[in-house]
Amino acid sequence: MTHNLHPNNLRLGVNIDHVATIRNARGGLHPDPVRAAEIIASVGGDGITAHLREDRRHIRDADIERIMDATDLPLNLEMAATEEMLEIALRHKPHAACIVPEKREERTTEGGLDAAGQHNHLTSYVAKLRDADIRVSLFIEADPRQIEAAMMLGAPVVEFHTGRYAHYGFDGNAAGVESELKRISDAAALAAKNGIEAHAGHGLTFDNVQPIAAIAQIAELNIGHYLIGEAIFLGLEESVRKMRSLMDEAR
Ligand code: PXP
Repeated sequence: MTHNLHPNNLRLGVNIDHVATIRNARGGLHPDPVRAAEIIASVGGDGITAHLREDRRHIRDADIERIMDATDLPLNLEMAATEEMLEIALRHKPHAACIVPEKREERTTEGGLDAAGQHNHLTSYVAKLRDADIRVSLFIEADPRQIEAAMMLGAPVVEFHTGRYAHYGFDGNAAGVESELKRISDAAALAAKNGIEAHAGHGLTFDNVQPIAAIAQIAELNIGHYLIGEAIFLGLEESVRKMRSLMDEAR
């Protein structure tokens, strides 16, 4: 999402997957992720993120075009590096494609992509997306090896998986939180030094977002489950506004 420069250089991409999860629970049309996208745009969200999974448990194919048509916000389409997803991305040309590892049985994206180990497969995959002017991001662990692989693949963006950071926090493991923060912050500095834009996401909440938002080289946070969960209590507008203001405060 380069074209929407937030004044403090930290964008908020809101992942609307779980609006679709609730819709799908009843098989109808409500709640519509498109309406969520419109609300997010109206309260200053910088982008919409959505994961088209192999099993379509969140958004579905038809949602992509509807979401892209609903607002001017850039769409960051999360997807596994499969031929099916490549064809869909090339057809819709979202602003960005974030390549994530995907296991059918997982509840959510549990770890980063092994960009280093999958180098051969990813080289032509990333090139095809780049040739279509789709901004490619790789969802990786904050690990120098993975950043090096992203450089070799020519990916302009990496997104660091903050799941471990979040989980240490939920478990009250302060030392774990500190060491993860250092790992993410060092990785963001390394990425920036090498001309790669650093994003971060997974498991971020009102309570744990600020130390991540304070990392100067991180340009975008993608946040979903917690924001949609809080929307039940606060409403989506207030949930997004509150996250935005916590991010601004930390910057
Ligand atoms: N970024 C990526 C690449 C993801 O796969 C996810 C989860 O779908 C998120 C961010 C958002 O994570 P959460 O829903 O825990 O905020």
